[in-house]
Amino acid sequence: MRLQLLQLVLAALCSTACTSKTANIPFYIISNGETPSLGRPGLTPIGKQRAESCIPNVFSQLNIGLIITCTVDRDGKEGLKCAAANETAVPLAKTLGINISTCATGDGADDDCPNNTLQKFNKNSNQSVLFVWDSTDMEDLIENVDTDAGLDNDQLALHADLILTVNPKDLRNVAVTSMNCTGIDGTA
Ligand SMILES: *[C@@H]1O[C@H](CO)[C@@H](O)[C@H](O)[C@H]1NC(C)=O
Ligand SMILES: *[C@@H]1O[C@H](CO)[C@@H](O)[C@H](O)[C@H]1NC(C)=O
Ligand SMILES: *[C@@H]1O[C@H](CO)[C@@H](O)[C@H](O)[C@H]1NC(C)=O
Ligand SMILES: *[C@@H]1O[C@H](CO)[C@@H](O)[C@H](O)[C@H]1NC(C)=O
Ligand SMILES: *[C@@H]1O[C@H](CO)[C@@H](O)[C@H](O)[C@H]1NC(C)=O
Repeated sequence: MRLQLLQLVLAALCSTACTSKTANIPFYIISNGETPSLGRPGLTPIGKQRAESCIPNVFSQLNIGLIITCTVDRDGKEGLKCAAANETAVPLAKTLGINISTCATGDGADDDCPNNTLQKFNKNSNQSVLFVWDSTDMEDLIENVDTDAGLDNDQLALHADLILTVNPKDLRNVAVTSMNCTGIDGTA
């Protein structure tokens, strides 16, 4: 009787843990596109070009099923760039016909939201999640999904072209690449 119960429990555990292990779907993290100085809203012309032509081009190759972006919690600090992150994400979402989920940033935010939303999506899907996050809040996101790009957080805040590709089986195994957007990334 006891043994049967144990077997049932093990089978139940395996149906979630074991399939997510075999599926091994990577997830991706990018930041908002370039924003104007002095806290002016929106994206710069370069940021807009990145969002409207380059990102849809790069990420439509990567089997993305859900985009997660951030919102600013009502207690959140000034100057957060979640509106720019959303603006960066919208053209890709439209191109792919997929939804954008949100998680709050800031003091009152639920730190488990990014991980929970990711895990919930990949329970029922083999498509990848793409986080499009506030460039000034990358450190929190990276901590909340328990990964580590081995990069100085300033690098992530400074360079809007970076893509982190995270292996969910080994969260410390992160590939860092550039979007290589034509005419705007790399050296002149
Ligand atoms: C993202 O931008 C779209 C288009 O402007 C808007 O409809 C949507 O409400 C925005 N979402 C968030 C979370 O700000
Ligand atoms: C987007 O969200 C809406 C509302 O939750 C849902 O009805 C729709 O099926 C979703 N679309 C996709 C492509 O997942
Ligand atoms: C995900 O992929 C695995 C292995 O290929 C497959 O068994 C499973 O049915 C797929 N799940 C979904 C929701 O497509
Ligand atoms: C993310 O969620 C998974 C599954 O619920 C859990 O095992 C893991 O510990 C969570 N990671 C973090 C950083 O909370
Ligand atoms: C960008 O170019 C580098 C160097 O050529 C390459 O390794 C990387 O895969 C490219 N990134 C993408 C997203 O294709």
